[in-house]
Amino acid sequence: METERVPPGIDPTKAHPSRRYNYWLGGKDNFAADRESAAVVASAFPTVALSARENRAFLKRVVTHLAGEAGIDQFFDIGTGLPSAGNVHEVAQAIEPTSRIVYVDNDPVVLVHARALLTSHPAGKTAYIEADLRDPDAILRNTELRRTLDMSRPVALMLVATMHFITDDDDPYGILARLLSPLPSGSHLVMTHATNEHLTPEQYAANVEANERSGVPFRLRSREEFARFFDGLEILSPGITSVVEWRSEDPPEKPPSVEDVSMLCAVARVP
Ligand SMILES: C[S@@+](CC[C@H](N)C(=O)[O-])C[C@H]1O[C@@H](n2cnc3c(N)ncnc32)[C@H](O)[C@@H]1O
Repeated sequence: METERVPPGIDPTKAHPSRRYNYWLGGKDNFAADRESAAVVASAFPTVALSARENRAFLKRVVTHLAGEAGIDQFFDIGTGLPSAGNVHEVAQAIEPTSRIVYVDNDPVVLVHARALLTSHPAGKTAYIEADLRDPDAILRNTELRRTLDMSRPVALMLVATMHFITDDDDPYGILARLLSPLPSGSHLVMTHATNEHLTPEQYAANVEANERSGVPFRLRSREEFARFFDGLEILSPGITSVVEWRSEDPPEKPPSVEDVSMLCAVARVP
């Protein structure tokens, strides 16, 4: 994206996670500041683009599972990202056309592109809410949410590659508890999260330093810290795994290593 085409209200000099992720996925909706931030992260974690691609592949697999076997037809996707191949509503509505999806993101560039997220099948519905995950009450109060989703029926709350942008000061566990509070039994939580579990202390220090320098707050979490998000929920088989390993039915001959991807995932049911 060239700076002369910057939509009003957007600061192209500041890196943003959605545009940086778009760059790692091979997209064009990013600015020089996003690419510079991406290079700083890659200096400490060179396989970050692979990790982004594997995360996106997991997203498609998990929505396919939820919309199919699990019978979920309502999705609440927070930290949606820029529209990309296989958006949640496209995957879900290909299986169940009546599926309803609410997308939430805080990047104004995602809002500019939101039209691509609102191309619902006529039998279903999609909505986009511009809001910050750090203010879950504002998300829950938004009238689009209840206009689109029936909160008396199961909903899949999706926080895919999003919670690692929430630092401890912003109380990530409290945010999640608030978002889960109105969801009925049978709802699901889907989360992926970058992890430090395969890093040596030196690699970990280099990653923390690079993330600080990249201009995007980021918090790598251990497997135990990730598991805490699922307290009180019923984690589905195969449990907490790398995104590479989660129900990957047709794995390539040489699948990427869990160390290179360093992204944990789990899917859980609200009892
Ligand atoms: C790495 S992308 C993941 C996109 C998509 N969920 C996926 O996995 O393909 C993370 C997204 O979270 C959004 N995000 C980060 N912090 C956020 C916040 N505090 N509130 C809302 N969205 C946020 C970013 O704008 C970005 O679009």
